[in-house]
Amino acid sequence: MVKPIPESTQEAELERLLARHADDFEAAFGAGGRIRRFFAPGRVNLMGAHLDYNGGPVMPMAIDRGTFIALRPRRDRLLVMRSTSEPGEFRFDLDAVPRAATRNWVDYPLGVALELFRESPRAIGAEILFGGNLPVGAGLSSSASICVGTAFALDRAWGLELTPFARVEAALRAERQFVGVHCGIMDPYAVGLAKRGHLLWLDCKDASIEHLPFDPSVVRIAVADSGVRRELAEGAFNQRVAEARGAFEALRVFVPGATHLRDVSSAVFERHADALDPLLRSRARHVVYEVERTFAARASLLRGDVAAFGRSMFATHASLRDHYQVSVPELDCLVDAAELETGVLGARLTGAGFGGCVVMLLRAGAEREVVARVSTAFERVFKRRARIEVFAGDPGPREFAV
Ligand code: GLA
Repeated sequence: MVKPIPESTQEAELERLLARHADDFEAAFGAGGRIRRFFAPGRVNLMGAHLDYNGGPVMPMAIDRGTFIALRPRRDRLLVMRSTSEPGEFRFDLDAVPRAATRNWVDYPLGVALELFRESPRAIGAEILFGGNLPVGAGLSSSASICVGTAFALDRAWGLELTPFARVEAALRAERQFVGVHCGIMDPYAVGLAKRGHLLWLDCKDASIEHLPFDPSVVRIAVADSGVRRELAEGAFNQRVAEARGAFEALRVFVPGATHLRDVSSAVFERHADALDPLLRSRARHVVYEVERTFAARASLLRGDVAAFGRSMFATHASLRDHYQVSVPELDCLVDAAELETGVLGARLTGAGFGGCVVMLLRAGAEREVVARVSTAFERVFKRRARIEVFAGDPGPREFAV
């Protein structure tokens, strides 16, 4: 058995990164006062691809890469926000709160601040610096990470004592209503309700959760970034949401009481597949079989059969490529290369697709060899390197004491 990286090493590394972030804060806003430091993780999703908005089950895991937040309270009612990766300073007077989004990165934390401000109209202002080590737009949920992280930091700064669920819901409302992204519920839940050494089992039909043990001495997670960023990804994502809705409208008549596409079994789907136009049939085929695969993967994990779990991930990727059509050649190349490795149990694109990352489930101990060989295979085809890193799980948003 391979020993997992000890928790204390991981926390010490984060501690070091957040100390540096506090230095960046002082460089941006000046020294003095008590600077509070927070971390919120990103996530990978292992099973349940494109199921959250179809009311199905998902199996995400928070990762040890995410958002860094440094915050210093002010005496007045100004909220002043900056980022280490974007230019500019944004100032908002809490007594004259903006109603409309600014179409800038700051909309994410601003939307959350407005949500929480409703709970605490006497809240004081703050200077906040955002940063982190999560690639943006790579399918690792940087937006849920910044939203849930902001909810956590402002909850602490304003003494609201919200539950983790309330913070997650505030983050979700901010992203949907203020920023205007029609995202599913998976990402903020995965970030905000994480538990170390566990995957989250989230049934998106009723938002019920369970934590399933995931043992890093047996399996590890590696993430390969294809480097592809699709400008149009949001439009294509919304299109899939609409197509799945269309398929459900056509199939619901055959399932009394159905509220989501997840309620349509594969037997019903096969019986009535001809009633659908070919595009919607293809989208529905992914969803109904992905629901079955995700339940099967859960059973495999619970009986310790990680090989079967990994095979479900490969099947998911093939379905995303062929039926849901959200893959790109770079992601397929990474998955194909991974499939040739004995150290890889499973691999699939994670997040919405159209670029971004592949998540791989590895046998513990195989990390080095797999990273080297998959990266060589990718370079041979695309003449550039794909960044491949091994990630650990994460226990969710937290404050680091000074
Ligand atoms: C994106 C969305 C999620 C989910 C995935 C696909 O990451 O933000 O809510 O729909 O795509 O599984």
